[in-house]
Amino acid sequence: MKYKAVVFDLYGTLVNTEGTMSACVSQYGEKGVELVTLWRRFQLEFSWLRSLTGDFKDFDQITTDALIYSVQLLGLEYDEEIIERITKSYLDLPAFEEVPTVLSRIKEKYETLILSNGTPSSISTVVSNAKVDRDINHLVSAAAEGIYKPSPKAYDQVFTFTSSSKEEIIFVSSNSWDINGASTYGFDTFWVNRRNAPFENLGARAKYIGRDLRDLETLLNH
Ligand code: LAC
Repeated sequence: MKYKAVVFDLYGTLVNTEGTMSACVSQYGEKGVELVTLWRRFQLEFSWLRSLTGDFKDFDQITTDALIYSVQLLGLEYDEEIIERITKSYLDLPAFEEVPTVLSRIKEKYETLILSNGTPSSISTVVSNAKVDRDINHLVSAAAEGIYKPSPKAYDQVFTFTSSSKEEIIFVSSNSWDINGASTYGFDTFWVNRRNAPFENLGARAKYIGRDLRDLETLLNH
């Protein structure tokens, strides 16, 4: 393969955002299950809306704002302490089962980076709690210019950390909106479709599709 660097999305790709489930369910019972999904949805939506309005807030703030809104939408009771405790669960997300072993093998042959909308400090905490910190060369916050993925300016941030050219990079994400953004930007892309989900039709296509990181490794070994 012609690639020199592998750039990974973080949330939903390397770590499971449903790791917030026990915090949500222990607080809200069955409604907590719905909360996990709504929270993630509005976290993403708020990041895109703030990118459009230009009224930038960092991803930690957006994560809290989205949690409060989702709790309110579901008509659940909350206070500052509850919101703080549940928000913290976003820092303690487990790596998907195959990730640690496959990632460490990929790092033997390729430069590895994470490009995430998260804040630098949250990215670093999440990666270390998920025990994959040693498998990544560079942690890159995509939001350095006050705008989130899928803006081209967010994908640009990779080049402050790697000397590889665009053609030498493969971008890996489970989020099909992110694959759309990265493909439009000009990266070759690998969509990790863990749940056999339909692809969001936003114009672009994934260059490669696989079930998990094992399929990525197979491709890279060709
Ligand atoms: C990331 C999220 C938003 O950029 O998936 O890591």
